[in-house]
Amino acid sequence: MKVGIDLIHFATADYYLGLDTFAAEKHIDVEKFTIGIGQEKMSIAPPDEDVVSLAAKAAAPILRQIDTNEISAVLFATETGVDQSKSAGVFLHGLLGLPNRCRVVEFKHACYAGAAALQMATTMIRANSKEKVLVIAADIAKYDVDTSGEATQGCGAVAMLITESPRIIAIEAGSGYYTDDVMDFWRPNNRTTALVDGKYSTKVYLNSLKHAWEHFTEQTNRTFNDIDYFCYHIPFTKMAEKAHKTLIKKTGADVTQDQFEAQTLASQIYNRIVGNSYSASLFVSFISLLDNNRQSVEGKRISFFSYGSGCVAEFFTGIMQSGYEKVLMTQEHQRKIAQRKPLSYQEYLDFYKQADSVIENIVYPLTNKGPYRLAGIKDHKRYYEKTN
Ligand code: CAA
Repeated sequence: MKVGIDLIHFATADYYLGLDTFAAEKHIDVEKFTIGIGQEKMSIAPPDEDVVSLAAKAAAPILRQIDTNEISAVLFATETGVDQSKSAGVFLHGLLGLPNRCRVVEFKHACYAGAAALQMATTMIRANSKEKVLVIAADIAKYDVDTSGEATQGCGAVAMLITESPRIIAIEAGSGYYTDDVMDFWRPNNRTTALVDGKYSTKVYLNSLKHAWEHFTEQTNRTFNDIDYFCYHIPFTKMAEKAHKTLIKKTGADVTQDQFEAQTLASQIYNRIVGNSYSASLFVSFISLLDNNRQSVEGKRISFFSYGSGCVAEFFTGIMQSGYEKVLMTQEHQRKIAQRKPLSYQEYLDFYKQADSVIENIVYPLTNKGPYRLAGIKDHKRYYEKTN
């Protein structure tokens, strides 16, 4: 049985901070960002945007194409959960009017949880082919102002419908895993911003890639040359470049510069202008490949490397299905990215300083351009609304 991604769509915030604006504010050479870390813009969420409203924006165009009563589970992956107890997925379930006969749960492990949710969904469908699972990966990457992480913020949500006989990609059995209890990036319960040991985190990422690859090859007997395109977790695009170089060195593959670029560049285009979206970032990279690759990727094998600090990593692959182009939502993605409004550094700070989940009562001004938003918090309860 083929199981995988039948439909995929992503959403990001309506605002961005250019790293040129950021560099001017901080008196840093802009090439540190555009070349050194390979980023141009970071999507910035206004106060009335959170992972639930982003997820609703990502999922709604998928749900319009199917009978929503068929959704049997919502698996919501996020590092930026909105409640310590209630799953973000249940807020989403209510906002989108999903059926009551549905399982909903939140998955967490830093940037890794999206891959875990996807793999769990494929397992559920292999056990019962009638299941249709909505997988969400949504995050708002937020670090303290004036720390090294500040330039690597961003936000986004990816919604994926996981089914039998998928129209986009069939996920192949056989994964490589790697877990190690390290402190490279973490966020204690009282904080809305992540703490990170930046340089160390890049080293742990690359080390995890090597270990996950080793396990993957033992599980599948596949080699580097069996893979046509490589999607990596992208906190910033230079990280994906370093990852690909590391994999080439590890495998001893003979890859020209042109081949290197063909294998990786299309999958970085959106991430470069959206920024980090933690659990969603790997799937934004996949969408970027599908929307931007010059040649069709029909029949090609795509690899996915998911890395969640702390750390859990997984390497797996899928095969692109024939006719996949017909169900892509490329124009919606491109329009949404292009329509974002640039922020001055002060406007970004004003958004940034608006604390959210710890507030007891607040009514948010309409800043998010919809169609879904966080309307307010009353007696610690969050209220969402559809705006258009
Ligand atoms: N022109 C061109 N390049 C320049 C430059 C200039 N003017 N100035 C600096 N650079 C280069 C540097 O040489 C360096 O390149 P290398 O990495 O190849 O050596 C690069 O730009 C970055 O410069 P610094 O190392 O000085 O930058 P920094 O101290 O500000 O830290 C960072 C960079 C560690 C990535 C930081 O942005 C950070 O902490 N980010 C958050 C953590 C993160 O994203 N970690 C990634 C792995 S963990 C993960 O993937 C999970 C997750 O999503 C968080």
